[in-house]
This record gives sequence, C-alpha cells and structure tokens, in this order.
Amino acid sequence: MEKLKTIPVHIGIIMDGNGRWAEKRNLPRILGHKEGIEAVRRTVQASIKYNIKYLTLYSFSTENWKRPKEEIEFLFSLMEQNLKKEGENLNKNNVRVRFIGRIWELPSNLIEIINYVENLTKKNTGLNLIFAINYGGRTEIVDGIREIIKSGYRVEEINEELLSKFLYLSDVPDPDLIIRTSGEKRISNFLLWQSAYSEFYFTKVLWPDFDEKDFLKALLDYQRRKRKFGGIIEK
Ligand code: FPP
Repeated sequence: MEKLKTIPVHIGIIMDGNGRWAEKRNLPRILGHKEGIEAVRRTVQASIKYNIKYLTLYSFSTENWKRPKEEIEFLFSLMEQNLKKEGENLNKNNVRVRFIGRIWELPSNLIEIINYVENLTKKNTGLNLIFAINYGGRTEIVDGIREIIKSGYRVEEINEELLSKFLYLSDVPDPDLIIRTSGEKRISNFLLWQSAYSEFYFTKVLWPDFDEKDFLKALLDYQRRKRKFGGIIEK
C-alpha cells in the first residue's frame, strides 16, 4: 500500500448526503443526520490517528434555515446531545473543540453547551476540531468588515492580511484539503476566503457511509497533488 508522506495540516469537510442516505432506505431524513454523527465520530478518530492538526466540519450553513423547522430542531438537538455526551471524551483525547459561524443566533441551550465544550478543551494541544454552525463564508467576510469598521481602521490600512485577522478564527491556517461527500461538486459558501488555494476532493460516498478507508483515500489523493499557489513548481 502507498505510504503517506504529505499530510494536510487543515482539512475541511462538507458533510453532504445525509438526506439521500435516509431516503434510499425509506427512512425519514432526520435519521440520515443521526447516522451522520457516527461518520463524524469515525472522522475525528481518523484525524487523530493520522495527526491532522485542524479539522473543520460544515455542520449547519446560514442557508440551512430554509429547511423544515422540525429538521432544524432535530439537527440542533442532535448537536447538543452529542456535544454533551462527547465533550469529556474529546477532552481526554487532547482535542480542542472550537466553533465558527453566527453562534449567537443559535438556541440558548446549544450556545450553553458550545461555551462549555470550548472552555473545557481550550488548553488542549492535539487536534483542533472546528464545527461550522450557522456558518456562511460570505457572512464571515461581512462580519469581519463590520468589525474592521467598528475598530476605526482607515481605508488605506485595509488589506488581505488585516481582513484575515478579522475572520472568525484568525489563528487557524487555511485548509489544505476540502472534501465533499455525496457527489456534489460545489463550495456552497464554505470557507470562501480561506479556500483560495485549497485542493478539493469529491467522493460519491454519502456522508453517513464515510469511514476511515474513504478518509485515507482522500489523503492519498491529496499527496499526489502538486501545489503551486499561483507560482511554478521548483525542480
Ligand atoms: C448534509 O446532508 C448534512 C447536514 C446539513 C448536517 C450535518 C450535521 C451533522 C452530521 C451534525 C454535526 C454534529 C455536531 C456535533 C455539531 P443533507 O441533509 O444536505 O443531505 P441531502 O443533500 O442528501 O439531502
């Protein structure tokens, strides 16, 4: 088997296909999300195993509010229960859990557990597990610009470096690899600013079926890529 040489520092995942996974089995869509949690668990374990430093999971987008109220409520309660259940375990595994998005617009019990887990794990030095909840790439840029204006910067001072500092997590490096499951090939407003030079990996596997083997396939594909960042490859 091929050996892993270059490991991405930061992987972002657009977890897609929960609904289709359930529909294929004649189950309600929400059961696809429930099964999706198992794929989250497997992916976190695999990321620890392969020494990934940052893993960002697109869990709820600013556009997902268009879904039926029951589905949204189910998703939030699933997040709440699982963060409650797994918080200690993640902490024991030296995982630092963080969140990006307009967290302040979420239901108060979810905000409470988010603050608890973030605080509990804030000194951990292993995997940074970042959940994007009520997240939109455009919204993130708008929020950053608002903060810049509030801080009183002059027009001449505004540049890429400054805006990067005002995004949700300025200390996190840009994603090297973005994975999207379920066969769709779109960015869907995920890490728009940060993905300028990311490599993309698309797989037909539906998110609830995604496992360590699929994760490894993405890593192997990534290491065959030649990253140029707009330059040329040095010989
Ligand atoms: C996309 O499938 C999936 C989502 C919108 C939600 C994913 C969220 C989780 C698995 C929970 C994350 C967990 C925590 C603890 C924060 P889809 O419904 O768009 O599928 P479809 O395209 O087949 O309809």
